[in-house]
Amino acid sequence: MKVLLNHWYVVLQPQEVGRKPLTVERFGQPLVFWRGSDGQLHAQHDRCPHLGASLGAGQVVEDRLVCPFHGFRYDGDGRCRHAPALGKNTTPPKGLVLKTFMVREAHDLVWLWWGDPALASPDLPFFALLQQGWQHYTVSTQWPVHYTRAIENQLDVAHLPFVHRTTIGAGGRTLVEGPYVEADERGVRVWVSNHVDDGRTLRTQPQLAAAFQGHEPSLDLRFPGCWLLSISPVFKNFLAFVPVNERCTRYYLRSYFRFGPRWLARPLGWLISLSNRYILGQDRRVVITQTPADSGDAHHDQLTGADRAIAQFRRFHSLLLQRQASTLSPPLSRAISDAAEQQSSRS
Ligand code: FES
Ligand SMILES: [Fe+2]
Repeated sequence: MKVLLNHWYVVLQPQEVGRKPLTVERFGQPLVFWRGSDGQLHAQHDRCPHLGASLGAGQVVEDRLVCPFHGFRYDGDGRCRHAPALGKNTTPPKGLVLKTFMVREAHDLVWLWWGDPALASPDLPFFALLQQGWQHYTVSTQWPVHYTRAIENQLDVAHLPFVHRTTIGAGGRTLVEGPYVEADERGVRVWVSNHVDDGRTLRTQPQLAAAFQGHEPSLDLRFPGCWLLSISPVFKNFLAFVPVNERCTRYYLRSYFRFGPRWLARPLGWLISLSNRYILGQDRRVVITQTPADSGDAHHDQLTGADRAIAQFRRFHSLLLQRQASTLSPPLSRAISDAAEQQSSRS
């Protein structure tokens, strides 16, 4: 599956992985997660290098992942430490190595480095303002959509009065002022206000830039797929988009809040999550109908001024993809980026 390489991705929540191996699909690949006796988390390709069996049906014994087929035992670095058929006194062949991924547990999420381990960044694409002092409650769901469409849906500031007419889009505020958008290789930041269309003249981008200066963005997307919606100073929604495969994306939607007493946090979180689920369901009905699946192939989409955030996401997402292609084949990538530049100078 084509995704941005050399980034930290949210792949799971820590409590989803225990001592029992867990197989999940991420980036179009089967991955197996398990914990050693000290709780340390390991992430490996879920394909035994012996005869290709899934290790998710195996077990963890003495800090080794044991294949259910012939009992070969792999350590957290992926080396086969014991092949029972060869006996205790034989060192397993060197080729029996399980591909192993770098993982970190931070901010109550599991992050996996997808790309070259030598290039791993010390920084996670998380939001500094969420690091302390919040209660949070998470809902997860999986949609049959490509991750680009999933992300763009959450950068779309024009769909609210239609898709969410009965919830967060009530009031008929169809007129989109802005959005004012700043974007770069780290992500996309969006400032917007929606109004009832009373015939007013929309402010220009420089006027909006001046008006929003010093304000937190309404929406903040960090590549490859962490998103923040600022609802109020005490209430934020965070969403991690997890590429499962070309046709499927997993969502971890987490509300962060700091109101109400601590003992009320769980019931409050649960109530908020009910509403989040309902609102996401409204999006889902429409997003699953979009074609083509990958917005990178949607050359016929006619974006308008209200879609600036989506346009900027596409621009930088494709720029990052082109750049990684250039590390593989410089002449090909030069041709792609020349074509992209011509395209952007035309638009
Ligand atoms: S397939 Fe895993 S030990 Fe044989
Ligand atoms: Fe929506």
